[in-house]
This record gives sequence, structure tokens and C-alpha cells, in this order.
Amino acid sequence: MMKMDRVVLALIFTFSMILNPSCAKMHNNGNKLQIGFYHKECPKAERIVADVVFKAYLKDQRIAPQLLRLFFHDCFVKGCDASILLDSTPSGQPVEKTSPANDRVKGLNLIDKIKARLEEECPETVSCADILTFATRDAIALSGLPYHMVPSGRRDSRTSRAADVTGNLPGSSTPIEDIKEIFKRKGFNVEDMVVLLGAHSFGSARCKWFEYRLNNFSSIESVDPSLNPLYAAHLSAMCQPFGEESAETSVDFEPTTPLKLDNLFYLNLLTGRTLLQSDQVMTSDPETSSIVRQMAFNPIQWRRKFLKVMVQMGTVNVLTGKQGEIRKTCRAYNKGV
Ligand code: HEM
Repeated sequence: MMKMDRVVLALIFTFSMILNPSCAKMHNNGNKLQIGFYHKECPKAERIVADVVFKAYLKDQRIAPQLLRLFFHDCFVKGCDASILLDSTPSGQPVEKTSPANDRVKGLNLIDKIKARLEEECPETVSCADILTFATRDAIALSGLPYHMVPSGRRDSRTSRAADVTGNLPGSSTPIEDIKEIFKRKGFNVEDMVVLLGAHSFGSARCKWFEYRLNNFSSIESVDPSLNPLYAAHLSAMCQPFGEESAETSVDFEPTTPLKLDNLFYLNLLTGRTLLQSDQVMTSDPETSSIVRQMAFNPIQWRRKFLKVMVQMGTVNVLTGKQGEIRKTCRAYNKGV
């Protein structure tokens, strides 16, 4: 990134944070989350998170999609309680991060770094679940969407079980009706789901999740007919030769603006340029196809809805008040409690 770009980015990011009031109340499905929760006990909390995320982003912009995915994988399994960050739990059972669905979640080291800074500033005050929420919000703002306020006051769980991942995180070949059902259980309607999947406008996916669409797709067609043929040829070249090594090769979700969060994803869906089958089917499903078109041709509407559902995602099954704990380090539950 050019030096000038960095300065402009830093200014936009800082001003947008200042312009937002930090202590407003917000209603969130009856839970006790609140904008500016740390206003009294750790007034610099959100600033410190933003500072660490910003510096990491300048070094490697891929941190932004990594944080968003980490947040999604935390919130959809048992709620936004930082359970995905735990290395072990009192029960000794395998933790969420050991589940195959989490085999490439990244961004955990950055959360550790932020937590270390916050423990110096105000010990045992800011939860890991809130740190992940703030960091994700900042990553989204750095990736091209307006800075938005998020309520806080989440607490950290002491449990994390790989077994709980099953049935809560859809896979790339999960049927769309099952995907809708998972989102519904978390409180999202079909439109929310389509809007949230716009997250696949940045970051990447490994060939292992979509190479079956390029080779031996079905008994009738070797290539998935919903893929644009030129795009399919491009993907085949990226993932050749099929084998263990190429299965791990990463391909950008969105070739034109691979690290920007934007609605190009939906235009790509309409022209058969998508990596994941779970995304592509949204163009043919009767309930989702019109929403895909709406999002493709109305970037401002998508943006507004995306930020709204992201705030909602941060409220899924949160622990508040005296529930859970405030961990001292994000990878470990507090001993002796
Ligand atoms: C039907 C639901 C979903 C499915 C099947 C799905 C599947 C996937 C897969 C297979 C990958 C590639 C992972 C890899 O190669 O290791 C991925 C990446 C990603 N997903 Fe999803 N996902 C879904 C929903 C979501 C949602 C709701 C969000 C966020 C709101 C999200 C955010 C991301 C991001 C940002 C990446 C890129 C990560 C990176 O570049 O490191 N996904 N997803």
C-alpha cells in the first residue's frame, strides 16, 4: 500500500470513530449489551483494539476477512462467547478450534495481541468476546464499509466443544434448505442470510472446497453447469493438478476487488463466477434469487443491511451480566474459579 493511501486510510478511520457517539444505549433482543459499555472502566478499549487492528491491516490486509470469518464461526456455535479461542476447557473435551470446519480459522494471534495490550491498560475488564466483536467491526470498516457502532458487554464462556460445531456451521455443499434452517435457528431470515453471505466478496477459499465442481461433478456433467465456462477453466488452472497440495491452494472469492467488502459478489453470482456451490445455488432458489438480484443492483442497500445484520450477529446467544467470565488470556479459561 502507498504511503499516501495509508495516511488517508488512517485519517478516515480515526475521524469516523470520533464522529460516532460512544455511549448510546441500544436494544438488542432483550440482552444487556450496550454501546460504550467500557466507557467508564476502560475508556480507551475500543481505541486500543482499533490501533492494533489498523497496524496489522497495514502489514497484511488479509487479516480483515480472517477476523470476519473467525467472528462468524464463534457466533454460530453456541453464541458470541469467544469459545472458538479456547485451547482447552475444564471438561478436557476437544475444543471448537479442533473441528474440521475450523481447520483454517486465522486471526487468533491478533486477538492475543490486543488482549495483552488491554490487560496492561485495564486488567480483567474487557472480554475476549467483545475484543473479537470490536476487531471485526474495525476490519469491516477498513475493508470499505462505513464505520459503525457495536454494542458490548459480552462475557467469555468456559466451555468449547468440537462436537457443538456439527450442524451449526454449513459446508460448501450443504443443501440450501439446511443452510436456511441453520440461519433461522440463529435468528436470521432468508434475506439476512443472503445479505450476510456478501461476506464472501473478500478473502479466499481453498480448492478443496470447490474442485468437485470442476471435475466429475455428476454422472452427466463433468463441470458444474452453473459455473461460467471461462471462469471454470480459470479455476481449473488455479487448482491443477488436483491433489493434496493444490487442494490447499487459496483462490480469491472476488477477482476484481479481492480485499474489499462490496456487492460485486452478487453480480458474480449472476454470471456464474462463484467458488462455492452453497453461494451459487442462491441464484436458482426461488426464495433467494430475487434477493440476490436486489443486492447485485443496489450497493447502498446491501451495505446498510449488511452492517445491520452484522450487529445482529454479534448478539447471538451472548453471555452477559454475571454469566461466564472475563478471561485473562483469550486462549485459556480462568483457573481457580
Ligand atoms: C452458507 C454459509 C457459509 C458457508 C458454506 C461458508 C463456507 C466458507 C468456506 C468453505 C470458506 C473457505 C475456507 C477455507 O478455505 O479454509 C469460507 C471463507 C470465508 N467465509 Fe464463509 N461460509 C458461509 C457463511 C459465511 C458468513 C455468514 C460469513 C460472515 C458473515 C463468512 C465469512 C467468510 C470469510 C470472510 C471467508 C474468507 C476467509 C479468509 O480469507 O481467510 N462466511 N467460507
